[in-house]
Amino acid sequence: MEMPTTTTRALPLYIGGRFVEGQDPGQDVFNPATGEVIARAARATPDEARAAVAAAREAFDRGPWATATAAQRGRVLLEVAQALRARAPELARLETENMGKPIAEAELDVADAASVFEYYGGLATKLTGDVNPVPDDALSLTLKEPVGVCGQIIPWNYPLLMAAWKVAPALCAGCAVVLKPAEATPVTALELARVLDGIADLPRGVVNVVTGDGPVVGAALAASPDVDKVAFTGSTATGRAILRAAADSNLKKVTLELGGKSPNIFFADAGWEAAVEGAVFGVFVNQGEVCSAGSRVLVERSIHGRFVEAMVEKARQIRLGDPLDPATRMGPLVTAAHRERVLGHVERARRDGARLVLGGGAPRGLAPGYFVEPTIFDGVDPGARLAQEEVFGPVVAVIPFDGEEEAVRIANATPYGLAAAVWTRDINRAFRVVKRVRAGVVWVNHMQPTYVEAPWGGVKQSGLGRELGRYGVEGYLELKQVHVNLSEKPIGWY
Ligand code: NAI
Ligand code: MG
Repeated sequence: MEMPTTTTRALPLYIGGRFVEGQDPGQDVFNPATGEVIARAARATPDEARAAVAAAREAFDRGPWATATAAQRGRVLLEVAQALRARAPELARLETENMGKPIAEAELDVADAASVFEYYGGLATKLTGDVNPVPDDALSLTLKEPVGVCGQIIPWNYPLLMAAWKVAPALCAGCAVVLKPAEATPVTALELARVLDGIADLPRGVVNVVTGDGPVVGAALAASPDVDKVAFTGSTATGRAILRAAADSNLKKVTLELGGKSPNIFFADAGWEAAVEGAVFGVFVNQGEVCSAGSRVLVERSIHGRFVEAMVEKARQIRLGDPLDPATRMGPLVTAAHRERVLGHVERARRDGARLVLGGGAPRGLAPGYFVEPTIFDGVDPGARLAQEEVFGPVVAVIPFDGEEEAVRIANATPYGLAAAVWTRDINRAFRVVKRVRAGVVWVNHMQPTYVEAPWGGVKQSGLGRELGRYGVEGYLELKQVHVNLSEKPIGWY
């Protein structure tokens, strides 16, 4: 007798502390390295999204969470960190199977996610208000209070880590949340829900996870009168729609972490080896599916030719293939549709006259995975679409420049301002460029390291507000000014 075939794993919704089957039969979830279906994810209906908001509302308004002591909340977060670490190998594998990133990167992501919970677990007891020195016989206080119910909408490029960036500071502040993972990558967010569900001191309904379509579930959170704040990471277009929905509903607070076209700037005096690797790593890590990808490489003209050659040579060494292999350094793109979008950018760049010096297509022998070769275009016009539009894939535009002045001008000539990097051994020049580049994050002689201890976010059309560090929790807090009159005398005005 044959063994019954295992049915595809159906992923539930997590509402009010219960894992529930969605009303809609849901949508397939793929392994992008193989094109195989690995699960089915519930596609929440507007009613289910409302139920999740209601559960969070109830937990925030009447549950014991918002009034728990800071120490109690901190301990819960530390427990989450520990539980994530205990399951790290499994979580990394699930992340890679669902998203396609190399396992070596997924392992770092899981470790980072645990560190985020740990950091905010520690911070919980360090959040303090102020005593304001008002010129009266009074005690003027500033108290920090949780903003309330938070809708948190996240992308597919760092599914677990983005969930941690959102959920941990919100819980640190005492908020309740409804988390909406990206359509393509629901798996590890629901594993996070399992972890949270196993923590006895986290009250039911404080965290809810609803999978489904952005324009339905995400939009419902952004428009809900019962949601006090929306935190979003994703495209600038969707960020705009969320801000509009917030304005048209209850003026909920909004933080946005959006796209980028980050310049990675190389002066002739940069340390050569590190610079070449930094140019390649800056744009090809995580298949280029990184909001801060160094997708514009600006190179001083005197080293331009040599530098591009060295980049090409380095990029040829990137090992593409099975992302579960620890030696792999580039996996497939997240979905077939996203690969088409990326290849569309490549095609347009060719038509616009950029010089293709590496890649440009699907690598041989890796079908049916959604792979794209590391792709380098040289001599890209700073105004061309490839230098202006976010590709979100392994495609870089190299732009030569003459002198610091021109480097800064080109660096700033996009609607974005998330990140930038500058490579030089001249410390004065490094700081001049740091000051003049309009970006929320600037690296000197490095690109991409990101730490939970330091703030993250963009200027211009790359976002609103900051995540991470002690700054990140402020977005989940409201200030309350309290005035205590210490005098018993009447005002005496009348
Ligand atoms: P997206 O911004 O549309 O999706 C991100 C999240 O927003 C997902 O959870 C999605 O379900 C949700 N969403 C979509 N439409 C919504 C709406 N109307 N209201 C509320 N939530 C909504 O990004 P998408 O479509 O996956 O990718 C498109 C492009 O966006 C990419 O090619 C890339 O350029 C950029 N992107 C940037 C990211 C970043 O980290 N800055 C992350 C993901 C995408
Ligand atoms: Mg979209």
